[in-house]
Amino acid sequence: MATEFKKNILCIGAGYVGGPTMSLIAYKCPFYKVTVVDINPERIAEWNSDTLPIYEPGLDEVVRTARGRNLFFSTDIETEIKQADIIFVSVNTPTKTFGAGAGLAADLQYWEKTARQILECADSPKIIVEKSTLPVKTALAMERILTSTDSGIHFEVLSNPEFLAEGTAIKDLENPDRVLIGSSQTEKGLQARDELVEIYANWVPRDRIITSNVWSSELSKLVANAFLAQRISSINAISVLCEETDADVNEVARSIGMDSRIGSRFLNASVGFGGSCFKKDILNLVYLCRNYGLDEVADYWENVVKINEYQKERFVLKMLKSMFNTLAEKRIAIFGFAFKSDTGDTRDSPAIFITKKLVEENADIIITDPKALKNAKKDLEGVEGSIDYQIDPYKAAEKSHAIAILTEWELYRNLDFEKIFQSMNKPAFIFDGRNIVDHQALFEIGFNVYPVGKPALTHFK
Ligand code: NAD
Ligand code: UGA
Repeated sequence: MATEFKKNILCIGAGYVGGPTMSLIAYKCPFYKVTVVDINPERIAEWNSDTLPIYEPGLDEVVRTARGRNLFFSTDIETEIKQADIIFVSVNTPTKTFGAGAGLAADLQYWEKTARQILECADSPKIIVEKSTLPVKTALAMERILTSTDSGIHFEVLSNPEFLAEGTAIKDLENPDRVLIGSSQTEKGLQARDELVEIYANWVPRDRIITSNVWSSELSKLVANAFLAQRISSINAISVLCEETDADVNEVARSIGMDSRIGSRFLNASVGFGGSCFKKDILNLVYLCRNYGLDEVADYWENVVKINEYQKERFVLKMLKSMFNTLAEKRIAIFGFAFKSDTGDTRDSPAIFITKKLVEENADIIITDPKALKNAKKDLEGVEGSIDYQIDPYKAAEKSHAIAILTEWELYRNLDFEKIFQSMNKPAFIFDGRNIVDHQALFEIGFNVYPVGKPALTHFK
């Protein structure tokens, strides 16, 4: 069976990155056998079912086409390691919660376990590809583990960080701005690099496949996320000043974004960025800098995270202050719990922080989201207070005192706000943490409207 395929590709870790990335490689390259393994049998069962474990536009179609043809999901990690020529490692690398570096450094335990398991099971040479986001110099540690016995088997470690964003993963994978491959500059390193280039070249134009040394590649991934998050924190910092000065942050963003040196993307002021990676990767960068004694550099990047925390806190305080300094027993409808639109992912979503703070104020919370209610329930398990879930935004808004829009779902732009207003307690408040609704129109309906980075529109004298 295996001989029908040009090569066997394995990916360890069937998460938000491993699943979609490997599905797309299989989809685009029918002559490679692609297997994705995970220690979590439920996740693998879901990948093998009609209800995939993650929601991504376009993913179902890609998986449906390739699964069973040259794409397989399995829990038999040992056998698959033996059969693989190329092994991608795409396990989670969360922020460490214990010991030295707790709260900053990357927790590399899952990653190290895979390295040891590869060493234990492999009986032929392999190319190992770091897909997870890792601190600089991790490839060196990987190499040291893989050469720690005298097995005589050669392992070549490459870095190939993933730049996809959730919600647009399939689009990003099909048409990436670039694919980055870092390798050692030895003959074997360059050979391995070329093998990986050959895979991507099946659908990515050659000039967008760039190569570098391993350390630049590892560092580029952390830096890309740090720069993206920095833009959001920069515009969010300016949003605070806008609220004080009657300037409008959207107008400021449009003006500066038209400068081609600045560019227009990632300048949407918001309730704060969320997701599993921005905060974790910046903190990882901060930890690295501190490790090298570069405290000024570390402080600079740490402030990107601090502004983000400030933006979330500020949002809750604004709600409290504008609703007459008490939220006790007021019904508040949270519109959107996912960390961004077009995903059910809620990891580090601003909605988690904001809901918990509102519960502390004894508010009655009702959460609506088209895709993230299952995860929201898990995130808020054990939180004592009044929290309900409702898929229908109209029902969620009924009898509420306020709506807080926390995710930029397209759905929320086009709701019948006249109908919503009629069903709410008065005075009715709307806090638009994403600046996605028509503030003037809502004000005219009768809402008191609080955008981010723009003057509030209220009916109070
Ligand atoms: P995830 O938690 O969704 O998936 C990781 C998977 O690895 C889990 O299913 C887990 O069970 C599995 N796993 C852990 N240890 C294992 C082991 N020893 N053997 C087999 N499986 C194991 O994480 P993710 O969001 O896919 O992120 C993975 C990596 O990719 C992280 O380093 C992250 O920073 C990076 N990344 C994520 C994104 C994103 O959008 N989520 C984008 C780019 C890069
Ligand atoms: C981000 C990067 O965009 C990817 O390139 C990277 O691969 C990924 O992290 C990763 O390493 O995990 P992702 O977190 O999925 O992708 O989504 P983004 O579109 O970057 O949004 C992140 C957060 O910033 C969301 O909460 C989003 O709502 C927020 N955001 C984004 C803003 O508040 N304003 C903006 O202008 C843009």
